[in-house]
Amino acid sequence: MDFATRTIHAAQDAEAGTGALIAPVFQTSTYEQQAPGDHRGFDYSRTNNPTRARLEAVLAELEGVKHAAVYASGLAAENAIFQAYLRPGDEVVIPLDTYGGTYRILNRVFKPMDCEIRQIDISDEAALESALTHKTRLVWIESPTNPRLLIYDIKAISRLAHDRGALVVVDNTFASPYFQRPFELGADIVVHSVTKYLAGHSDLIQGAVLAKDAAIFEPVKFLQNATGAVPSPFDCWLTLRGLQTLELRMQRHAENAAAIADALREHRLVRRVYFPGLREHSGHEIARRQMSGFGGMVSFELEGTVDEVTSFVSSRRYFTLGESLGGVKALVCHPARMTHASIPAEERAKLGLSDTLIRLSPGCENAKDLVEDLTEGLEQIEKARSERQVAAAVAG
Ligand SMILES: Cc1ncc(COP(=O)(O)O)c(C=O)c1O
Repeated sequence: MDFATRTIHAAQDAEAGTGALIAPVFQTSTYEQQAPGDHRGFDYSRTNNPTRARLEAVLAELEGVKHAAVYASGLAAENAIFQAYLRPGDEVVIPLDTYGGTYRILNRVFKPMDCEIRQIDISDEAALESALTHKTRLVWIESPTNPRLLIYDIKAISRLAHDRGALVVVDNTFASPYFQRPFELGADIVVHSVTKYLAGHSDLIQGAVLAKDAAIFEPVKFLQNATGAVPSPFDCWLTLRGLQTLELRMQRHAENAAAIADALREHRLVRRVYFPGLREHSGHEIARRQMSGFGGMVSFELEGTVDEVTSFVSSRRYFTLGESLGGVKALVCHPARMTHASIPAEERAKLGLSDTLIRLSPGCENAKDLVEDLTEGLEQIEKARSERQVAAAVAG
């Protein structure tokens, strides 16, 4: 079954009892039992729920594995992986460009429990080899990364990590299974902020963990019930609905991102554009190999001041200033003060995360409208600069 057909048909039969084409939201906390312990597979909705089970089955189909567990947020999903696999003395290797929330949970929650967090340039094979020890439990890869859209070679990293007995986790949020299938490249676990492209409409918070292997999945799945960070049935239903258009949305997001990257790289107020589809992007060749498209995100460094960044991001017509990404409505964000504010300034500087970096999440709008909105913003900066120069000349 082709990907688009799977998003619509896999694990999405009409509801058995009534024939409803779209299965209802099973908005229930508990289930009738025939005799104590004698039930129809569902006893309590923290443990299992038919709407959630359906979503888990669809996500597993899309990533090409058997096991999926859905959580109340992407970070709850990450927490389940860390809690399942990290014990005092264990080590985790993460890339320089790691989502701020992942950096925070590792450094503020697991480091105080005596786990060592090694943040390295994971694209450097020698650096990775020397970071891996017999205590390395997890190697975490985000690709493309948030916010610079760096690309890491999942196959090569997995090979090295497996040689040392570490598990490889890939955060596939930015690519979605439409553009990247980490299990085919060697990943043991895939994590998603479902909040983003999978749900796709900026109307819920949700996360997922997927695994190829039952033994690897079991401890993570156990924590879903044991610690209880489960999503509501209605949120699961919304994600099921959003997933049906995943291919269409991803195609449009990617077309829009490519058009924006092309327009921005020509502009004199743009110092640098980060988009894996550009030939000059450091990860372009790897992206061509391991992804079927370049994703829907674009970031760029403004040749300007932080004040100019503020006025640019705060006054766009179609790009709403806000956290998050991956919805049908375009969003713009200033990572240094928003998504990545939890990383201290000196750390951000070391990681190459500039204070004038702007992250764009083009929605499913028309590409020309989005490009015009951005170029108008850049023109406004130039106009304000020349007005200031005239005012200074007059005053002087
Ligand atoms: C790459 C990535 N992973 C994980 C998360 C966390 O997901 P959530 O916000 O759903 O908890 C985010 C959130 O922005 C993200 O961008």
